[in-house]
Amino acid sequence: MCSPVSYKVGVVLAWFRKKNALTLADLTPDMLPSHIGFIMDGNGRWAKKRGLARTMGHVAGAKVFRKIVKACEARGIRSATFYAFSTENWKRPQEEVDAIMNLLRDYLKESLADFKSENIRTKFIGDRAPLAADIVALIEEAEAETAHKTGLTLNIALNYGGRHELVLAARDLARQVLDGKLSPQDITEQRISDALDTVGQPDPDLIVRPSGEFRTSNFLLWQSAYAEYVFMDVLWPDFTEEHLDRAILQYAQRNRRFGGV
Ligand code: IPE
Ligand code: IPE
Ligand code: MG
Repeated sequence: MCSPVSYKVGVVLAWFRKKNALTLADLTPDMLPSHIGFIMDGNGRWAKKRGLARTMGHVAGAKVFRKIVKACEARGIRSATFYAFSTENWKRPQEEVDAIMNLLRDYLKESLADFKSENIRTKFIGDRAPLAADIVALIEEAEAETAHKTGLTLNIALNYGGRHELVLAARDLARQVLDGKLSPQDITEQRISDALDTVGQPDPDLIVRPSGEFRTSNFLLWQSAYAEYVFMDVLWPDFTEEHLDRAILQYAQRNRRFGGV
């Protein structure tokens, strides 16, 4: 049993820790990540735990996506990239792929109505070639309608794969060399960055992966060279603003050296 003295010590220690714990309010804007990447993983397991179809997990995940976009904006984050569908996710049953694409259609149609009241610039990264024509049209409309917005830049990674993005960039640069517009020695890190879907955007400072997996799954391979990773043991449909704040606080306490001392 706990003695009265150790109980008091415990209470004082808890008070001291709470008093000294960093909160979001303690962070100055330069301590916030400018760009956060989210690997929205764990929808299927969330549904399975509840005896539901995997697609219900995606429905729940889509709601959380909307909430976390707003939370990023409210916290003054400049860019956020959400991994919605990878180049490898086509391997899933057709029914699941269709359900994800339908959720995306719903989101885009609904957002087109919301865009006027929001200050979010929406962009899509990933290869659009295999997407349905109506989805591509909605994506283009969403990008055009929000291009002038000055708040959060929201990137949705759809049919995105870091390796595939680099392959397309390599083809693009090779074509320029063949056309005599570029010489091989002019291919620099900057040229490669500029040939990627994220051209002109800052690299992610922080990448958050919920679901308890410790891997990147082909997300922003080139851009994440110096990103800080936060892996969280929560399934994406259970991800809340508190998890976001915890990830930002962990990030703010990291010592980024970029190869220096
Ligand atoms: C992430 O959740 C959503 C997509 C990949 C589209 P998952 O569907 O991968 O969920 P788990 O990992 O199977 O639980
Ligand atoms: C990563 O999740 C892709 C997205 C979140 C869109 P996956 O569920 O596809 O990743 P793996 O298969 O567990 O690596
Ligand atoms: Mg998964």
